[in-house]
Amino acid sequence: MLKVENLESGYGPMQVLWQPSLEVKRGSITSLLGPNGVGKTTTLSTILGAVVPWGGKITYEGEDVTHLPTHKKVARGIVLVPEGRHLFVSMSTHENLTMGAYPREAAKHMAESLELAYSLFPILKERAKQRAGSLSGGEQQMLTIARALMTKPKLIMLDEPSQGLAPILVTQVFDTIKKMKAEIGLTILLVEQNVEASLSISDYVYIMHEGRIKAEGSAEKIKRSHDIREAYLGI
Ligand SMILES: Nc1ncnc2c1ncn2[C@@H]1O[C@H](COP(=O)(O)OP(=O)(O)O)[C@@H](O)[C@H]1O
Ligand SMILES: [Mg+2]
Repeated sequence: MLKVENLESGYGPMQVLWQPSLEVKRGSITSLLGPNGVGKTTTLSTILGAVVPWGGKITYEGEDVTHLPTHKKVARGIVLVPEGRHLFVSMSTHENLTMGAYPREAAKHMAESLELAYSLFPILKERAKQRAGSLSGGEQQMLTIARALMTKPKLIMLDEPSQGLAPILVTQVFDTIKKMKAEIGLTILLVEQNVEASLSISDYVYIMHEGRIKAEGSAEKIKRSHDIREAYLGI
């Protein structure tokens, strides 16, 4: 569904991505793992076009989208849930969700998307009228993900969704990611520092270091390979 080849980008004069290549198969959970500062967020931002690609090629659903503007990528079904929770804290849960349906096509399917979001996240239905700022950390993360679903994505990119959450909530977030794949057939590109939890739900895994892909394979293979885990993940 998504193919990234020899991607290069950075900030000002500083190159961050040194030609990583990766592929996300339709209906899969593909993870991009690695320690802090290796270029994971930059990879997602460059795929979306928020950071301009300097070189390489991005193919989505068979089409070259390397230089397509971000809003057009969103309209075609790519969405990014960025690090942290960027909610409208003084608006209600419900309002945050409706604001998520901003692409024109998505707005037409508002009712259907709301139903889907509330069925995946029943707790958000209970909190529909509450201010987003008054929700717990875990609920806010659920809302951030649910709001991204309102764009009717086909490919959802999640940047460290478990960051800063208590262990029980981390489990909830990963369960939700599994459900998005199983129940709505979404394709997921997951960036995480939580290696164990990510390996447990992923189909395929890439390991990034200093802007390059240093290892890749099925989650099973990475789990079994002590060398890879020790060299790049410190576990
Ligand atoms: N907006 C930015 N401006 C300048 N440098 C940045 C910016 N964002 C990230 N960087 C730098 O790019 C490198 C990779 O960062 P990032 O992609 O955020 O890594 P990761 O997500 O793996 O932690 C780091 O050296 C970081 O300091
Ligand atoms: Mg990051």
